[in-house]
Amino acid sequence: MNQNRDSFTSKFGVIAAAAGSAIGLGNIWRFPYVLGENGGAAFLLLYLFFILAIGMPVMLSELMIGRKAQMNIFGAFRKLSPGSIWPLVGIMGVGAAFMILSFYAVVAGWTLDYAFLAFKNEFAGKSPDEISAIFNDISGSVWKSILLMLAFMGLSAWIVRSGIKDGIEKYTKILMPMLLVIIILLNVRALTLDGASAGLKFLFTPDFSKINANVILEALGQAFFSLSLGMGVMATYGSYIKKGESLGQTAISVSLADTFIAVLAGVAIFPAVFAFGIQPNAGPGLVFVTLPGIFNQMPGGYFFAILFFILLIIAALTSSISLLEVVVAYFSEELKMKRAFATWLAAGIMSALGVLCATYDRLFTFFEKTSSNVLLPLGGLLIVIFVGWFLGLKNVRDELEADGKVARYFLPFVFVIKFLAPIAIAIVFLYSLELLRF
Ligand code: PHE
Repeated sequence: MNQNRDSFTSKFGVIAAAAGSAIGLGNIWRFPYVLGENGGAAFLLLYLFFILAIGMPVMLSELMIGRKAQMNIFGAFRKLSPGSIWPLVGIMGVGAAFMILSFYAVVAGWTLDYAFLAFKNEFAGKSPDEISAIFNDISGSVWKSILLMLAFMGLSAWIVRSGIKDGIEKYTKILMPMLLVIIILLNVRALTLDGASAGLKFLFTPDFSKINANVILEALGQAFFSLSLGMGVMATYGSYIKKGESLGQTAISVSLADTFIAVLAGVAIFPAVFAFGIQPNAGPGLVFVTLPGIFNQMPGGYFFAILFFILLIIAALTSSISLLEVVVAYFSEELKMKRAFATWLAAGIMSALGVLCATYDRLFTFFEKTSSNVLLPLGGLLIVIFVGWFLGLKNVRDELEADGKVARYFLPFVFVIKFLAPIAIAIVFLYSLELLRF
């Protein structure tokens, strides 16, 4: 093991950092709005299926690649398969990190403004329409979005610069549990609103006629996006995990925690969407117009709103730093840049792209859709094929059993990554290209 590499110091630290990457705006901002646009409960079922059958195995495969190679995502493929074209998958991941963080930071910037507005008590007494107007004002104002995005990007770069133990691990351990508590409180309030049941019905009673190729692809894309898979985050974090830790346990805990938070976010939001008469397919503004309304109707709402938006910023930060880390590890290990320089360079390029995303809605949507629905599932497909067919089953077993315990799930896991997961992803792709008709 390379003694000079930074690493996580404890098992809980590993899980908190990986869960910190997974849990973010993807759960609280993206999941509800994509579900709302794709018909509700039927989407939820597909999403849960993809998490279990594809997400968890891809996560384990990715962690394994990183820990075995002890390198950034590009270097890992080069080391595990010298002279091949596999490192291109690493390049694709680095590219995806640029794309994702540039629109992600724009949304995260809006949450900064929301924390500030909550602090000034701007939402108090406002009707859903007035709250919508506030959102349109922020997201429609290019300058405001750009400045907020830059502030958020600066914050992420500042944390990443200081490395793993003292930056990422320290904060996520305390902050993620706090976020959970507030979401549970929001659930209690949302469920007791008049008219809450229509929201629950939308979320939990599937209407299978709503399923089409696009809904399936969106559910797959959301599963990858939410779990931070297919572009090297988990491989990069895996490279900081010590040999004694169980990768299987990490993959399961992180996936479950992430899914739990997404479902809780859905339960907090949809009853309110229906109670306030908001359209469930309102798009990326959905949570921003719904949540302030719930806080308005809660005892102590002023206080909880501030706390919630601060925690949401933190959840976004623990995800954005993982995206940045993929690029920084690549720049510093492959291109031999100093860590601080690599961090500012990556954040600088991402900010330039972020300016474009804040200015052109169509570019924002293009980056969002292409990364989650194409690049991440494609990356995941290649990752399971690599581990299932090229890494060598003995290596796979050694990594799974590095904690000294027999991995009884070895055979089912191998079956899934060799056959089930790649075939399932390929079918969704082909189906959505309308090449295959069922
Ligand atoms: N999973 C993060 C979220 O849900 C977003 C993310 C995607 C982070 C891909 C890293 C890689 O907010």
